[in-house]
Amino acid sequence: MQTGRGNWNSRLGFILAAAGSAIGLGNIWRFPYTAGENGGGAFVLLYLIFVFAIGVPVLLAELAMGRASERSAVGAFKKLVPGGLWPAVGGLGVLTGFGILSFYSVIAGWTLRYLYLAIMGTFKGDVTAATSGPIFTNMAGDGSMAILLMGIFLLLTILVVRGGISGGIERAAKILMPVFFLVLIAMVIRSVTLPGASQGIEFLFHFDFSKLTAAAVASALGQALFSLSIGMGAMITYGSYLPKDINLPVSGFIVALCDTAIALIGGLIIFPALFAAGADPAAGPGLVFVVMPTIFGAMGGFGYLFGIAFYALLAIAALTSTISLLEVIVTYFVDERQWSREKATWTMGILCFLMGIPSALSQGAFTWLSSTPERAFPGGDFLSLANIVFGNYFLSIGAIFICIFVGWKWGIKAAVEEMSRNGKLPVAAMWSFMVRYVCPVAVVAVLIYAIWTNSYL
Ligand code: PHE
Repeated sequence: MQTGRGNWNSRLGFILAAAGSAIGLGNIWRFPYTAGENGGGAFVLLYLIFVFAIGVPVLLAELAMGRASERSAVGAFKKLVPGGLWPAVGGLGVLTGFGILSFYSVIAGWTLRYLYLAIMGTFKGDVTAATSGPIFTNMAGDGSMAILLMGIFLLLTILVVRGGISGGIERAAKILMPVFFLVLIAMVIRSVTLPGASQGIEFLFHFDFSKLTAAAVASALGQALFSLSIGMGAMITYGSYLPKDINLPVSGFIVALCDTAIALIGGLIIFPALFAAGADPAAGPGLVFVVMPTIFGAMGGFGYLFGIAFYALLAIAALTSTISLLEVIVTYFVDERQWSREKATWTMGILCFLMGIPSALSQGAFTWLSSTPERAFPGGDFLSLANIVFGNYFLSIGAIFICIFVGWKWGIKAAVEEMSRNGKLPVAAMWSFMVRYVCPVAVVAVLIYAIWTNSYL
């Protein structure tokens, strides 16, 4: 156990840990399924625009807040501008952390089950969408299984987070993230060479704006924020452990690039295989779980090993993200409420487990929370609702306030200074303009547009 606050050990350590937070189910599970539901290409293009025009500026703003204050998501606001209501924005972030972790650990639990199935040889031979569909529905619809899997995943998260910052997280991320990347590349190669794959590439990169709806615009923004882990203080928290001699803007930009690349790679794995297997792109949260096994089936003898490697690494990628979600909550209780790390980790981890139960039961186990033919639950089912509310809307609201705080309250000058500690920030003027005007106005506009057209769910 660590006593002091701790720090990342090196620039690479920080980049890998922050990329570990950013890269996760958001890239491999959420990005493809959201793109599929929103018609593909136009959504993807908007997502890319939002990542670079809004995501990167906000990411840097959060990291600067964290490093300048060396505090939690709540404490950073308090320390940088004492007095006032601003710490409530951090409080909203902590709440969002609970909300995201509650449904995220359900999906993460599914990856553990799929790892087990892969080891048992379930995906050997000729797997089609027709055979892999029921495997998914049976698993997700089994309520006690879903709760158990979620519990195991949260337990793993708790065990790492209680060990403190650089010990567990940094060491694991350093080795495993690069391995994950290699496995994904091999899977892209298999997927794009399947018969009929070109339709999938066309779906992803053909920008058909007639398909664009208000819901797609709001989801693309939400996806950009979610994928970069911003809008709730995760990057404030990670920035608070960032040593002063590390180049903040460059590190932040590298993290954003890696994250976006992995999302596109996720899409390039799923969609070609999806069209080759004749599955429906708008299948919802189960999409990747239904499509992925068809690729392993088509990989011949190697498919067995790739299946195991893929699910093991996806589970680990998800773990480095759940760690950062729980870390936001724990750092708050440790820094602001003087709880011990041990107590904060266990208490909050167990609370997240309880909050996750409705999501775990929403994939068929409990009709009232699930999507049924007779009655549409708002957002589809409870899990999808939590995903949209916390993953899109709470993050968007958080991002607006973070921009206003950094741009107008704490002050753009102080923020630029924090970012230029190791060499001048070459695009300081543009960054300032984005954070003060473009980002908050654009996010408010997207939210109003979505609510106005009544397409927020
Ligand atoms: N970015 C993570 C992912 O893509 C999820 C996440 C969101 C983590 C917000 C922390 C904060 O999987």
